[in-house]
Amino acid sequence: MRGKFIVFEGPDGCGKSTIAKNVSTILGEMGVAHILTREPGGTDIGEEIRGLLLGQTGNMSPRTEALLMAASRAQIVEEVIKTNLEEDKYVLCDRYVLSSLVYQGIGRKLGINNILEVNDFAMNGLLPDLTLYFDISFEEALKRRGKRDTKDRMENLEDDFHKSIHDGYEVIYKEFEKVYNIVKIDASKSEEEVTKDVIDIILNKWRGANETDNCNRAR
Ligand code: TYD
Repeated sequence: MRGKFIVFEGPDGCGKSTIAKNVSTILGEMGVAHILTREPGGTDIGEEIRGLLLGQTGNMSPRTEALLMAASRAQIVEEVIKTNLEEDKYVLCDRYVLSSLVYQGIGRKLGINNILEVNDFAMNGLLPDLTLYFDISFEEALKRRGKRDTKDRMENLEDDFHKSIHDGYEVIYKEFEKVYNIVKIDASKSEEEVTKDVIDIILNKWRGANETDNCNRAR
């Protein structure tokens, strides 16, 4: 059996990173073998790339940004995600290809097809088993982002950019729901409620499949 690759997605301020940490803690308490990682980053090379991408220096061209996001992805796929899946672990990843389709494809206006092409190469065939899309109103996400003490290069972009990201997630969700196994989460609820919703989704999603696996093994 192979582990499961579960991605947390949504606009800045949707709360996905907090929920991913809560879910990791609960899975740990339940004794479920898993790792929690993030993009851009998640490997030594990826974290260096993250520094370039999210630091405040220079005028990075959108194409450079898209390629660096994809380069960080290529590294984490080979070094972290595939190896942990082969060890039957759940891999929880804070952001993956949807972020590039939305932020670079739509936000930076590079086009969905260009981003798909670059990322097909970077992902080397590894698609998520489940993508959790944290849906929240533009106004609420703005309010939550405003509470942060420090903002990275992307978070500092103007409200128009963030509005295109917010709307872009809905567009990509509709177009790629089946390809990336996307499930929409109501992220406007309380932290406790959203955490519980996500845990329920994860634990129920493969229940039937695991029972079949166990039956097959018992035969
Ligand atoms: P994130 O880790 O969610 O930021 P934080 O740690 O502050 O919660 O995401 C970092 C930023 O990088 C976020 O603004 C989205 C952006 N990003 C892209 O533009 N494209 C991508 O492919 C990825 C993975 C992230």
